[in-house]
Amino acid sequence: HMTTENFHTLTVETVSAGVWLVRLNRPQALNALNTELLGELSAVLDHAEMTEDVRALVLTGSTRAFAAGADINEMAALDMVGILNDPRQQHWQRITRFSKPLIAAVNGFCLGGGCELAMHADILIAGHDAEFGQPEINLGIMPGAGGTQRLLRAVGKSMAMQMVLSGQPISAQQALQCGLVSEITQPEMTVERALALACRIATKAPLAVRLAKEAILRGMDADLSTGLRYERQAFTLLAATDDRNEGIAAFREKRQPGFSGR
Ligand code: CAA
Repeated sequence: HMTTENFHTLTVETVSAGVWLVRLNRPQALNALNTELLGELSAVLDHAEMTEDVRALVLTGSTRAFAAGADINEMAALDMVGILNDPRQQHWQRITRFSKPLIAAVNGFCLGGGCELAMHADILIAGHDAEFGQPEINLGIMPGAGGTQRLLRAVGKSMAMQMVLSGQPISAQQALQCGLVSEITQPEMTVERALALACRIATKAPLAVRLAKEAILRGMDADLSTGLRYERQAFTLLAATDDRNEGIAAFREKRQPGFSGR
């Protein structure tokens, strides 16, 4: 059982049917992402991927910080070859290929690798005190876990350049305006709102959710015709599922559908 597992840097809680809440928990370092934390997070995702009952995940930090970046002390010990062979790269790939909905509930500092982690989520909900930034330039480096690429796609060229080149963070309000997050809440409601969304998604047909997520993600790095072709294939595939029959039958019979994941 996930909740009883012994992690050092995060906690996992089964909140309701199908929803796990993962809380980053390195308060002494504002949840800086060291290798242990990324390793534990990728272990949780492995477990969630293999557990059929898990339908959606919410990832959060504390009220003070979602995460203040890569662990600078750990990074300082790596030379070029160390960075080249960094095992963290595999953990990032694990997060990237997670097939179930991942919602980030962000309060406080969301910086550097922390902002990059939040951008791995499918949906971002932020407290109005959240602060998003890529301050790596202040350390003489640059984002290295997808920051330049995912920011560009999320907020466009000018804001991505502004954040990455100046190192200056933006407010939750600005993040909402430029599309980095989809909603802003009172800070004490952020996790609750993310969980409500996750619970709603958890009631939908899992195969449809999975293919819809994949279609949107593929669309981010494909031209329109390639994206549309993928969408049509996924849509066609869903016609062969029990849940499609159930969903349509339930609508016609004016009742709630009971999806089986088949
Ligand atoms: N790594 C390691 N430790 C960190 C950390 C980080 N990224 N961010 C904060 N901490 C530690 C601090 O060292 C401090 O520890 P001590 O109490 O032992 O000194 C503790 O967390 C609390 O932090 P502060 O005292 O600095 O808190 P503050 O409220 O004064 O400032 C802050 C908060 C503005 C976020 C500041 O901590 C800060 O600037 N942090 C670094 C942010 C940063 O540069 N992140 C990018 C990292 S590089 C990266 O992420 C690379 C990549 O893309 C993969």
